[in-house]
Amino acid sequence: MSLAPRSVVIKGTGSYTPANIKTNDDLAKLVDTSNEWIFTRSGIKERRIADETENTSDMGAKAAARALENAGLEASDIDIVIVATITPDMPFPSTACLVQTKLGIANAICMDIEAACSGFLYIMEVASALLKSGSYRNALIIGAEKLSSILDWQDRTTCVLFGDGAGAAILSISDEADVGLLDFQLGADGANSDVLFMPGGGCSQPATPASIDNRLHYLKMRGREVFKLAVKVMEQAAKEILEQNELKSDQLACVIPHQANMRIIELLASRLEIPMDRFYLNLDKYGNTSAASIPIALDEARREGRIQSGDLTLMVAFGAGLTWGAALIRC
Ligand code: UT7
Repeated sequence: MSLAPRSVVIKGTGSYTPANIKTNDDLAKLVDTSNEWIFTRSGIKERRIADETENTSDMGAKAAARALENAGLEASDIDIVIVATITPDMPFPSTACLVQTKLGIANAICMDIEAACSGFLYIMEVASALLKSGSYRNALIIGAEKLSSILDWQDRTTCVLFGDGAGAAILSISDEADVGLLDFQLGADGANSDVLFMPGGGCSQPATPASIDNRLHYLKMRGREVFKLAVKVMEQAAKEILEQNELKSDQLACVIPHQANMRIIELLASRLEIPMDRFYLNLDKYGNTSAASIPIALDEARREGRIQSGDLTLMVAFGAGLTWGAALIRC
């Protein structure tokens, strides 16, 4: 089969967040923090936390089912499933294979890709390239995380920032020109791999009683350094993609940033000279959901009518690795 598509479009989106809400005041009962500190330093008011029966693949499958419904497609229409996550249900098989079977998708290639909080933009470009090869018609891409499973609930510098959830999109080939996924600007710098990472659980430090005692199976972060790098790489990726496409920032109807910290987003907005009301924000409700952050925001922005047909939207992210990315879409 060779379909030689002209574009790849977003046919549908869906998202899912667990029902259980943990407020900043709830966390102040666990660690030495306060609602005032968390809100003023990050913009977060509450986050969703999955229960022990609800895994990344369950949340991913729920978001995906909503995206399929939104796209008007059936499970049998999907040829590719890609999941971006740093909290897979298990090291293998891939969470994508687990989602596949939960949704009854019979014939698809399935894989996980790990690029931390930039993961959704990475899988969007990978799926887009596969679709443009002409061998596939519809891809299901999912960003899903159960970050609560790798948070150190004794570390106030990290546990207050993150939450659980999933977002999904259906990407499809189209014969229309100049619509859908217009361009990507992805990047990485492994020299900064030590600012945000989880040391234990891989082959270098497998689980042992000592690794557990030393709390190696939890996310570790040097927040201030991540903050500075985040602003720098997101500004750079956003400026490069606008320049490459001969666009001015005032032509963007909406910006969907990775929802990590309101102060990072405000700095980015001022450096790009884009008013804050153009940014779609939901981090007050969900905190940082890593790879799920952009697809949850994309789904909510579409459903709330913040992105209209023909609008240019910029998505921009950064994450552990370091990784970063910008994507330009016309819905
Ligand atoms: O997807 C990527 C994920 N990572 C990020 O986006 C993180 C980027 N970085 C940040 O968002 C910010 O750096 C943080 C929100 C993590 C921290 O904000 P900050 O303004 O950079 O604070 P800080 O790390 O400089 O800490 C200031 C003070 C410290 O106390 P001292 O040394 O001044 O006495 C911390 O110990 O705040 C203290 N602190 C807290 N106090 C109350 C750190 N965490 C907390 C807390 N509650 N939860």
